[in-house]
Amino acid sequence: MKFIIGNWKMYPKTLKEAKAILAAHRRSARLLKRTKVVICAPQVFVGALATGLRKTTTFALGAQDVFWEDEGARTGETSPAMLASLGLQYVIVGHSERRALGETNKEVSQKAAQAMKHKLTAVLCVGEQVRDDAGEYFGLVRSQLHASLAEIPKNASAHLMIAYEPIWAIGSKALRPAAPADLHEMTILIRRELVAHFGKTAGFRVPILYGGSVDERNAEGFLTLGEADGLLIGRVSLSPEGFGAIVRLVEQKHS
Ligand code: PGA
Repeated sequence: MKFIIGNWKMYPKTLKEAKAILAAHRRSARLLKRTKVVICAPQVFVGALATGLRKTTTFALGAQDVFWEDEGARTGETSPAMLASLGLQYVIVGHSERRALGETNKEVSQKAAQAMKHKLTAVLCVGEQVRDDAGEYFGLVRSQLHASLAEIPKNASAHLMIAYEPIWAIGSKALRPAAPADLHEMTILIRRELVAHFGKTAGFRVPILYGGSVDERNAEGFLTLGEADGLLIGRVSLSPEGFGAIVRLVEQKHS
């Protein structure tokens, strides 16, 4: 099974548009057998989008962030219990755009652990800011992941995915998309860290996704040469045509 996760970020502006894009994505996920589509919508829309959404094995709705407690005096926050009560199954944690606002590895780890308790699959993001010639980015991603896993019990890997998203490859200001080789060396490092935390069998089961300027032309390379188990897609996930094309391609080529 390959996972194609859409991260809508702070788009679109209206619930009406959000409903229309979601409906189009649901249509393109209808006949899938080997691919799962997950759409992570803005928090304010997820309740309305979840209403009446039939559960299927190939399509799910998710959120883009969550707090690490189930309730409390936390103005503006959303809890894992709240997301789970809507029937949501996925939540992104530690996206670089949230880390840039000051979110720490410890907070990311607490968020993931609490979400996973509610059987929300945490899509935990890691990635370096830049690639330096000395290869320091390896150590950086390793320690970021290590610290982001710290609060997750060693016997609880079932509802976890890691998304490797190099910051230099994300968004409209990206230098370039990563190359499959950039990803491949990171999947090895991430896998090693997962095995160190969860043990061999469980560590190998945690899906590793790639995100950062994924489009129809480069998607395939990340899954084959890069050996990713899925993709985390920002901009293109707002385009039913572009996103649908990636979903079709992945479904055709992968089992
Ligand atoms: P992008 O965003 O696909 O627009 O580069 C990816 C992400 O930030 O998750």
